Amino acid sequence: VIDSALYHRIRAATCDLCRPLAVEDYVVQTMPDASPTKWHLAHTTWFFETFVLARVPGYRPLDPRYHALFNSYYQSLGPPPPRMRRGTRSRPTVDEVYDYRRHVDAALQQCLERGEIAGELAAALELGLHHEEQHQELILTDAKTLFCDDPLAPIFRPRPSRAATPPVPLRWFSHPGGLLAIGHDGDAFAFDNERPRHRVHLEPFSLASRLVTVGEYRAFVEAGGYSNPSLWLSDGWDLLRAEGWEAPLYWFREGGEWHQATLAGRGPLSDDEPVCHVSFYEADAYARFHGARLPRETEWEAFAARAQPDGHFLDGGDLHPRPARDGDGPVQLFGDTWEWTASPYGPYPGYVPFGGALGEYNGKFMCNQMVLRGGSCATPRRHIRASYRNFFPPGARWQFTGIRLAK
Ligand SMILES: [Fe+2]
Repeated sequence: VIDSALYHRIRAATCDLCRPLAVEDYVVQTMPDASPTKWHLAHTTWFFETFVLARVPGYRPLDPRYHALFNSYYQSLGPPPPRMRRGTRSRPTVDEVYDYRRHVDAALQQCLERGEIAGELAAALELGLHHEEQHQELILTDAKTLFCDDPLAPIFRPRPSRAATPPVPLRWFSHPGGLLAIGHDGDAFAFDNERPRHRVHLEPFSLASRLVTVGEYRAFVEAGGYSNPSLWLSDGWDLLRAEGWEAPLYWFREGGEWHQATLAGRGPLSDDEPVCHVSFYEADAYARFHGARLPRETEWEAFAARAQPDGHFLDGGDLHPRPARDGDGPVQLFGDTWEWTASPYGPYPGYVPFGGALGEYNGKFMCNQMVLRGGSCATPRRHIRASYRNFFPPGARWQFTGIRLAK
């Protein structure tokens, strides 16, 4: 049973994130991968309308044309509009999109009050809330592409200044390996791609105690990491050359020094922070430079399943990763930055997709992407768990993606 207070709290949190935006900011699409805020607000609403309300007898859509317009990628619902053109439409207006949200929220509230949401509809409603949280993170990462590229350097949200901290030494935690159970256990919500729980055999391995820092990564940049092809996978080297990568996304040189653009504006690098906005290829090259490798997702989960899912999330408010503190085991497993793993994104043995059109949610992307674990400073805390599998193509850099080493 979904409690309507939870529904409204999560929906309102999405709108709260948008408060710093001017109306013009809602409409721009910076690249095919990133969507305009206005589209995120409409599409998350469309999800509830399509998978819940449209199946309740008597529901009347605000505008039936939105059904085709805000479909992201569900081919079984009809051909979705091209993704790269989401930023080429001024209509519906931002106000109209907020009206759409209010219309759907009010209709859902009525349905919940009348007890009309049960069984499959309740499951779709719950999925819709987790979907909404995924788009909260995307609103931030997509707005970051817009703000950080702007010559006027707008600030999305200021961040309290803090004193630099001495670096926490990197330590290694060993694991004996063996036969382990991996994947989501129990009846609580999980995406289909986290199931079923199954056994894996791991060789003995070690996991780094914390994320790679900006200072450590800067040393890699300054040691010529971006000009030594022997460190790079072939596809990564080709992309580096094609896009002219010299450093992580949002790093830029000013007066001979590296600076970075953040949601709180621009400034010099802070060496104690975790590095972020690196691709899988950069994470992999960095690991090779240090004679290490990236963890497999099962290795990461073996440690994370024993850890508290605490960390620095969206709820912390910084919208930027924080320096590590020392701990008795690996720290920063949850929050701060997503961690690239060495695991290609694929189905677990016995994988069963969600039913109907929702089967398109995760399963059809199980090719040419890498798994990321642990959530970031833009992920709502409630959204993450040890079994959670995020996935992006290996060249993606605009998410809060960082590096943890293994060996
Ligand atoms: Fe979506």
